[in-house]
Amino acid sequence: MMRNTPARWACTCSLILVASSIITTLVAAITTSERERNFLRMLDVIDVDLVLSNQRIVTKYVRCVLRTGSCSPEGRDLKQALPHLFKNLCEQCNVRQTTGLRKIFRHVKLNRPDDWKKVMQIYDPKRENVSRLDIFIRNEKNNNSIPG
Ligand SMILES: *[C@@H]1O[C@H](CO)[C@@H](O)[C@H](O)[C@H]1NC(C)=O
Ligand SMILES: *[C@@H]1O[C@H](CO)[C@@H](O)[C@H](O)[C@H]1NC(C)=O
Repeated sequence: MMRNTPARWACTCSLILVASSIITTLVAAITTSERERNFLRMLDVIDVDLVLSNQRIVTKYVRCVLRTGSCSPEGRDLKQALPHLFKNLCEQCNVRQTTGLRKIFRHVKLNRPDDWKKVMQIYDPKRENVSRLDIFIRNEKNNNSIPG
């Protein structure tokens, strides 16, 4: 009986390790998509132009995303959502959300080019998707389809 114990322990232990790494992965996934949902929900209700016209607030978001400053809860949502949003470019979004995200990206790119460069270095260091992103940002259809 005693001879089996170490093996059994090892077995139980590795099962626990596997299970906990699966759970960790799931929790991370849930958290990220939860934050993305929060961020997109925010785009549904805020006036993006008004927020973007406030330099102080934009600076705070940018510093959060660039990890050089503290994050508000909304900033944290944005930061966590960004990797996925850069990949899928708001494919799952409604028109208002897409327009909002496009305005945010365009604003930072045009008005804060140095910050934009730093954001790109973090989220697309190999510049794999720069051209897709530029097409998304330039999209002519949805520039101003949402008033305000
Ligand atoms: C670029 O886009 C592709 C297709 O959506 C995606 O698989 C890839 O992870 C993206 N790369 C980066 C750095 O986001
Ligand atoms: C949308 O914005 C881009 C960049 O500012 C601009 O070049 C383009 O003409 C705009 N399109 C419309 C329909 O306003």
